[in-house]
Order: sequence, then structure tokens, then C-alpha cells
Amino acid sequence: MLFRRAGAFSEAEVTAMDAALQAALGGPRGANPLVGAVVLGPDGRHLVSGFHRGAGTAHAEADAIKQARLQGINLEGATMVVTLEPCNHAGRTGPCSQAIIDAGITRVVYAVDDPHDPAAGGARTLTAAGVDVAAGLAAGEAAELNREWFDAVAAKRPFVTVHIAQTLDSRIAAVDGTSQWISSPESLRDNHGLRGLIDAILVGTETVLVDNPRLTARDPDGALAASQPLRAVMGLREVPADATVRGTDGRFIHLPTRDPAEALSLLFAEGARHVMVEGGSRILGAFLAAGLVDELIVYLAPTLLGSGTPALRDLGITTLADAQHWDWDDAGGGAVRSLGRDLRLHLRPGRTTENHENPTPGKDAAGSVTGGH
Ligand SMILES: NC(=O)c1ccc[n+]([C@@H]2O[C@H](COP(=O)([O-])OP(=O)(O)OC[C@H]3O[C@@H](n4cnc5c(N)ncnc54)[C@H](OP(=O)(O)O)[C@@H]3O)[C@@H](O)[C@H]2O)c1
Repeated sequence: MLFRRAGAFSEAEVTAMDAALQAALGGPRGANPLVGAVVLGPDGRHLVSGFHRGAGTAHAEADAIKQARLQGINLEGATMVVTLEPCNHAGRTGPCSQAIIDAGITRVVYAVDDPHDPAAGGARTLTAAGVDVAAGLAAGEAAELNREWFDAVAAKRPFVTVHIAQTLDSRIAAVDGTSQWISSPESLRDNHGLRGLIDAILVGTETVLVDNPRLTARDPDGALAASQPLRAVMGLREVPADATVRGTDGRFIHLPTRDPAEALSLLFAEGARHVMVEGGSRILGAFLAAGLVDELIVYLAPTLLGSGTPALRDLGITTLADAQHWDWDDAGGGAVRSLGRDLRLHLRPGRTTENHENPTPGKDAAGSVTGGH
């Protein structure tokens, strides 16, 4: 990491970085990392904060600068404290490094470098413009905040969210195959909101044959949302020519494989950086067993079926010591929320070693990769 200087941070900057890390949790996980920013006045006073609300929206730095503009706050001579190196690329929202320079901010403190090639280099641009740049404050915390995202970027694969709509007894369909709708209308709305944010949605062949789903993102009134994910079906069998999922908009892809890693690399090649795996149970089990799930969203309905399709098929686990452990995730609206009659549970791969011999899904106790996460 460039620009790191031991003891180079004031008490106000340390406090501001804590607040920026907390602010970052307001955003959703996905194609972009969680990022928070706090701006301090020349006297160290907190002026404004901002955070990133997901792909296509303003970055945390731009959000904070906008807040300042709205409140009539002059940022000349201010310090920006941010959890990730400011970006350097025009992208969909303009380079943050330039926005910081234009705002008159004279010092930037950031936690970790941006690993993403097109975005990296913001620190260099800032330094070249005469901004005082210091990196490495709370680097461990910031890396942990986006651990799965950094892993996905390094592996050159999309960030993977798994979505499960299940009964209290972990069923996703009844014996006769009916599954619409296990979830409350509020959960369905939430799910369609997510579909509007992701790049691709993926199901197995069997789900297509049984449910004939549309897999589109729809508004509460049923109208198609402005942003539609690529609809992917994974499996060796052909997708029927009249399957609804094919649609007419060209946003359909068949992934003729049973290997989750191959499916993800095919989707990455299509430009997908955030994939939501929606089922059914064999597909969910395959991604989880491979250690290729970065985020788990479970809609838990207060309903019992007693039989039917289990949420997950075999994960290959035969003893408790091999169980996958997950951590509750406070990001993006919290770990547990009520959605109508349902509970929405939000989790990320487990990290804590206490009480667990096998802390990280897809990795053994010694930390060597067994699945690929
Ligand atoms: N409640 C919910 O949220 C929800 C969501 C989705 C589905 N569902 C329900 O889930 C049920 C379908 O689940 P399911 O488990 O029977 O089927 P599935 O997981 O949807 O699809 C299984 C098929 O996917 C293909 N496949 C691709 N990769 C695979 C892999 N690694 N391992 C195994 N199969 C792989 C295989 O077909 P090929 O022979 O073509 O390779 C396999 O037969 C339906 O009843 C549906 O209603 C519920």
C-alpha cells in the first residue's frame, strides 16, 4: 500500500474512520463494495458523512460531497476519511478523486486500496493534484467489512447472493411441486427490489420445468422494472423452446454445465458482477457445497409443510464438525427484519473461530480451501 505513514492519523480521523465503517453498513452487498465516508473540517469537526447505496448510485465520497452542497457547507481545506481508496474512473458516476479535488478537500485518509483495476489509482491522482493522502487507517476492519467482495474480485468471478424462500421447516415446495407463494407479499416485493439491483439471476433446469418462472424484476403493480437481470438457467438439459424464462428481450442465457464455478465464469464473461442464485434445492446445495456463496438471504415464512422439497439438498456433510457456520450480517438493512408475516434473515460466511472447528464455509479448520470460497 502506498502513502502509509505510521502514526500519521489524528484522534479525530480515527473516530471518523469508525463512523465511516458504520455508515458503510447502510448499503447493500453486491457488485460494488460497502463504502462509507466522513468529512472533517480543518478544525477536526465532523461536517458530513455519506455511504454507497449500490451499483449505479453515487459513491460514498460523492454522496458526502452532495450532502455538504445541500447543506451549504464549504469543504475548502477539509479532510475526507473514507473506508476505500477513492476511485479514479469515470464509470457510471464520475471519478471520486476529481470530485474531491474540485470540492477543495486538501487531505484524504483511506483504509484500503481499491483492488479493482479500472478504479484503482485515485490516490495517485489526488497526490498529483497536491492533496495530502494517507492510507492504512483501520485497514483490517475495512478489509473484513468487504471480505467476500475482495475475494470475488481477486477470483475474477461475480459476487454471489443466494436467496431462499422457505417454510419454518425448511421446505421450498410442497410434494406436488407447488411453491407459489410461500413468502408474504412484502418478501416478494423485497425480492423483486433485489432483482432490479443484480446483474444476473440463476436457477436450475428443474425449477424451469416445474415452475416455468419469468425471473424478471417487477414493480409492486406487476410492471417490469427499469433494470432487468440476465436470466440464467444452469443444467445439461435443454431449456424448452416455449419456456417463459427465455422471454423476447435477449436477456436469457443457458449455462450447459453442472459446475457452479464454470457457471460463474460464463456469467462473468457476460459482464455479470452480482449474481443471485434463486434455486431450487440442488442448485443451492451445489453453490453452498462449493463454497461459492458470499451472501445468504432467507425469507422464513411461519408455515409448515412437513414434507416436500427441502431448501437444500446434500451439502456432503456427515458430522457436526464439518457443519458450515454463517455470521449474521448487519449490512443493508440488518441481520433480521420482519417482512409482513415473514422474517428476512441476512447472513455472510462465518469468520469467528470460537466454538467452531470449521469456521469458514468451504474452508477446513487449517484454512486451506476445500471448496473455493
Ligand atoms: N421457494 C423458492 O424460493 C424456490 C425457488 C426455486 C425453486 N423452488 C422449487 O424447487 C424445486 C426444484 O428444485 P430441485 O432441487 O428439484 O431442482 P433445481 O435445483 O431447480 O434443478 C436441478 C437441476 O439442475 C441441473 N443442475 C445443474 N447443476 C447441478 C448440480 N451441480 N447439481 C445438481 N443438479 C444440477 C440438473 O439438471 P440437468 O439434468 O439439466 O443438468 C438438475 O436436475 C421446484 O419445486 C421449485 O418450485 C423453490
